This record gives sequence, C-alpha cells and structure tokens, in this order.
Amino acid sequence: MIRFLQITDSHLFSNRAHKFLGIKSYETFKAVTELAKKHIRDRGADFVVFTGDLSHDGSEKSYQHFVSLAEELSVKKIWIPGNHDRLKTGLKVLENAGISSQKVIQQDHWQLIFLNSFWKWHIAGKLSKKELQFLEKTLEQGEELKNFVFLHHHPLKLNCKWLDGSKLKNSDAFLEAVHRHKNIVAVAFGHVHSEQKLTFHGVDYLGSPSSSVQFMTKEQQFKLDAVMPGFRWFELYPDGHYETGIERVAMHSDFLPDLSSKGY
Ligand SMILES: [Fe+2]
Ligand SMILES: [Fe+2]
Repeated sequence: MIRFLQITDSHLFSNRAHKFLGIKSYETFKAVTELAKKHIRDRGADFVVFTGDLSHDGSEKSYQHFVSLAEELSVKKIWIPGNHDRLKTGLKVLENAGISSQKVIQQDHWQLIFLNSFWKWHIAGKLSKKELQFLEKTLEQGEELKNFVFLHHHPLKLNCKWLDGSKLKNSDAFLEAVHRHKNIVAVAFGHVHSEQKLTFHGVDYLGSPSSSVQFMTKEQQFKLDAVMPGFRWFELYPDGHYETGIERVAMHSDFLPDLSSKGY
C-alpha cells in the first residue's frame, strides 16, 4: 500500500505575521503541519506532496519559512508549483532543503505523476507542450500500472464563475490524454482551496482544502468560507482501489478569515 498526504496552498509571505485575507497564513500552515505530524505518527505515510502556492509573495524568505515548518514532517517531501510560486527562487530554497521536484513515483502497482501547470504572468494554469508530451510518455510507460496525476490547477469546471476563470487553460488537451489512456484512476489538484470530488468518464477529480483560507465554491463571485484549514490523505491499494479523506484543524477564531473580503 502507498500512503501519503496532500498539503496545498500555504500562501506564505516574507513576514510571518502578514495577514492573508484576515488570517496569518504562517500560523494556519503551522497548525496544519502539526496535524499532519500527528496523522503520520498514528497512521504512517510514505511522503507528503505540496501541490502549489507554497508562497504567496514569491520571496526567498517565504520559502525559508515554508521549509522551517515542512521540515517538521519526517517523511519524503515533493512539491509542484502553483500560480503564486516563483520557480527559480522556490526551486533553490526547496532543493537545498531536500524537498524534491521529481515528476514520477513508481511503486506497488501504482504510478504517481506530478505535473507543472505554472503559466507565467497568469493566475490560470497551462500545461506546456513538453509537459503534455511527458504525460503521454509516462502514461505509456506505466500502461500496466494504475496512475494517479497531480497538478496545481483544476482541469474541470466547478461551476463557480470566478474560480473557473483561472482553471487549467488547455484542459481539453489534458482531458483528451486522460481519457485515451484507460489507466488513470484519479487526478488531484490544489488551487481551489476547498474539498471537491467530481467523477468524469470514470476518473475521479479531487480538490483539497488549503492550509490557509478556504473558498466558497457554491457562490459565483469571490467569497471565503469559514471552514478550517486542513489536508487530504490517500491510501492506494495493490488491487487498484484507493481511499482518501480530509482532516481539518480544530476550530480556532484566529483561523477565521475576513468573510467580507471581495477578492485579493
Ligand atoms: Fe492558492
Ligand atoms: Fe493557485
């Protein structure tokens, strides 16, 4: 069995006391890593994947703060970038700390693929030609395996107008590849700051709560949700089925965002 956690969208700043939409994202990320530590102690995990927007301001310091908390998790760590990340700065600090940007894990009947949907100067995501070719090639190589794909941006509409404006731009090309290869079980993403599960052509599409603020996706305009930050856990079994769930930190008034925020 493969066990791992997905922690996403920590949105850290160079100043640890800086407030992001009313909450100190350093503090919520700290609380989420504490909860993840407990989960790993109780149930075990092979690794943790951070699915983008690790930093909000892209500063070197914000990545150093990220590392100082992520290091508390005593398992392998992998990251993929989100629209708020700065690739060069992030890569330098994270690589030095041993946080991997590897793109594939093959283990126990499963292949896990980590894609980069960062699209420079855009909030929306895009998979480059090279990234799509890499996906094709890796799916072909792992034809006999069950596949699980990770990327920052959501490739399917959530029917939430403002958030769907920044989904994966070339999702048609991505979905076409997913449906052509019959060996993909699920696609997991960050970016939407909310728990999501959609099934489309037999493939599950899973969104995770953020480790900072939560978005209300039932509203058409920007709105924050009062639910607490958290993470998603996964267990992948040799027979090809998987289990997943969400854990959230205990209710704390300091972690309630400014619900009147109109955007950022
Ligand atoms: Fe985000
Ligand atoms: Fe994002």
